[in-house]
Amino acid sequence: MKDILTAPFMGEMIRHTTNMYRLGYDERNGGNISLMLDESEVAPYLDTANVLRTIPTGFDAAVLAGKYFLVTGTGKYFKNVEVDPETNLGLIRIAPDGVTAELLWGYKDGGSFTSELPAHLMSHIARLSVDPENRVIMHCHPDYTLAMTGVHEMTERAVTRTLWQQMTESIVVFPEGVGVLPWMVCGTNAIGEATAEKMKQYRIVLWTLHGIYGCGRTMDEAFGLIETVEKAAKQYMIKAHLPQVNVITDADLLALTERFNLNYRKDFLDL
Ligand code: 13P
Ligand code: ZN
Repeated sequence: MKDILTAPFMGEMIRHTTNMYRLGYDERNGGNISLMLDESEVAPYLDTANVLRTIPTGFDAAVLAGKYFLVTGTGKYFKNVEVDPETNLGLIRIAPDGVTAELLWGYKDGGSFTSELPAHLMSHIARLSVDPENRVIMHCHPDYTLAMTGVHEMTERAVTRTLWQQMTESIVVFPEGVGVLPWMVCGTNAIGEATAEKMKQYRIVLWTLHGIYGCGRTMDEAFGLIETVEKAAKQYMIKAHLPQVNVITDADLLALTERFNLNYRKDFLDL
């Protein structure tokens, strides 16, 4: 059996949690990540028949029965994942009943997966229904995105338009726009269901006065989406109060969609 700490998926998780902490996206225990894995990726590193303990998922995730996930722990700090992955992360498999997670590795101090597991697993289900290659759900609290949700009209059309107008790359990276939820209590099945509903349409969902959810086929893809939204929100927050001398018009955005052959939200442009 190979050492699980040398697994490529472990390296990816450690690199991203460490980087996101350093970027200030994940204060204290803020943020959580789940990475779906195939049995063939896990088997060289773990005896998959050896279940350490079981933990209730809190909802019916039977659609994901038999799927493996590397998930950040609840209350755990991203900054500590690198020094102690086995305490701050866990590798779980969804049991056939769908309401139990089988712990195969990690949460060494008796801990558990993120309190946002419903939002993660429900979002995995939603994304897999539109993109069978999706593997990652990533949540964090980046400053400028969070600030923007406190001062901007929170409709999908308005937020998307503003983000697209901030910098040329926005519409290229997220042509479908961003999903938006009002403020809600976090860590609940209700916010999980609402997030997953948006994830059928968007790869980015903003939680008003809380943070952001991103998804992707790889960690790079999910993180790349989030950092692009954060960059655009930063542009907005540092210049919205100043006279706007040069702007990206709707005609400019349309020209970008033609140049890059983008399948974009047409009703989000005024043409
Ligand atoms: P967890 O520590 O349970 O992952 O919660 C952090 C968070 O960001 C809640 O939304
Ligand atoms: Zn959060």
